[in-house]
Amino acid sequence: MTAKIISGTETAKQITAETCQEVAELKTRHGIIPGLATILVGDDPASHVYVGRKVKMCQDIGIHSERYDMPASTSETDLIALLAKLNNNPQINGILVQMPLPKHIDESKIISAINPDKDVDGFHPTSVGRMVVGNPSFLPCTPRGIQILLERSNIKTDGAEVVVVGRSNIVGKPIANILLQKAQGANATVTICHSATRDIATHTRRADILIAAMGKPNFITADMVKDGVVIIDVGTNEIGKTADGKRILAGDVDFAAVKEKASAITPVPGGVGPMTIIMLMSNTVKATKMAHGLI
Ligand code: GUN
Repeated sequence: MTAKIISGTETAKQITAETCQEVAELKTRHGIIPGLATILVGDDPASHVYVGRKVKMCQDIGIHSERYDMPASTSETDLIALLAKLNNNPQINGILVQMPLPKHIDESKIISAINPDKDVDGFHPTSVGRMVVGNPSFLPCTPRGIQILLERSNIKTDGAEVVVVGRSNIVGKPIANILLQKAQGANATVTICHSATRDIATHTRRADILIAAMGKPNFITADMVKDGVVIIDVGTNEIGKTADGKRILAGDVDFAAVKEKASAITPVPGGVGPMTIIMLMSNTVKATKMAHGLI
């Protein structure tokens, strides 16, 4: 079997068109322009690339964006002061603090300082709590992007064995919770594997849908999956640079070998990555509508 390639780029394009339409309607019908603030602390090159893409996407679809680039030496107090200002700024509907933050800053303290109504990343404990109990919430962008990618690729999660490898707060834990919900596009039997899991392959071989999100290049090999598995590869590992300085990325899955066994697989790049960014835009539009009592 050679896998169908699940193109996040194509699905993200469709959702971009839908989101563009929503933004245009907010403007023409209500005179409202959604606003997103992005905050980047320090000079991690990958984070610069990601924030740059988020800002560009805002421009492309008509969302007002304010970008705050702060030095690595920024104090927790200064960052919290900026968040307080943005929390009270009615032009700003969504706030994104790019992770990871420098070591001297307590990420959970910063996340908790964001107004949950503007928590378009879905990282605030209030959003996480709502997600876990199944109440309406901002869902974290990468996991929500994965759920939509599965839905729009007609991959059934209902009753499926889903194995998630990786337990980060950004991907592993939330995607497991989202797919566990008794809801459409979810209702799966979910297993989470992590660095202390004794024999990861015994779990991954049972998966109907395998979500690899541990940040280890080519970790999932063909012998670790069953025939017909659906693979969602969240890995974006930089494994080198091209002669002109562009990042060379590898996923967490050995794509070339695993695609021969899988029924469907996301590529890296062009799989989950584009979905993350458009979900951020979609959450920003949702926050804007909520702020104006439109939903
Ligand atoms: N770092 C890696 N992924 C993300 C994300 O989705 N949001 C933020 N804020 N930081 C990240």
